[in-house]
Amino acid sequence: MNGYLVLKGLHVSAVALSGIFFLLRGVWMLRGSALLQHSWVRITPHVVDTVLLAAALGLLVRLQLNPFATPWLGAKLIALAGYIVFGSFALKRGRTRRTRSIALLAALGLFAYMIGTALTRDPFFFLPG
Ligand code: HEM
Repeated sequence: MNGYLVLKGLHVSAVALSGIFFLLRGVWMLRGSALLQHSWVRITPHVVDTVLLAAALGLLVRLQLNPFATPWLGAKLIALAGYIVFGSFALKRGRTRRTRSIALLAALGLFAYMIGTALTRDPFFFLPG
């Protein structure tokens, strides 16, 4: 198997795991579950996200892509920054349940946007026409 396929397989698998983990932690947050405090629940997402980003970097190098000159990649990076901020408000920083719920929805929306723009290579894939 070539390096590109390995990196892409790693990236996409880590994307799936990362999304599942984030959703799970969001549900646990809404339910006030003590599971959120378990050390494996706190550490595993960091490991998965490190693999996700390392594979993304590998893909950039392998495909010789400049994210600042490739609109769908630039959009993904901006969305990633928003996802991290909203994600941290959803799981940690949000003071009220309402703030955390809104932040969770925004983070999930940005995650879906990143998948959409990656699959279509179009930052405006959601616009008709
Ligand atoms: C949570 C964040 C991310 C998600 C949800 C995500 C999602 C995806 C998905 C679903 C694909 C596969 C697209 C396909 O099947 O062709 C993909 C590919 C890719 N992603 Fe990401 N990604 C994320 C972060 C990043 C970041 C930060 C970068 C680097 C700026 C990046 C760079 C790439 C590249 C270069 C490809 C391969 C494109 C190709 O094969 O031509 N991704 N991403």
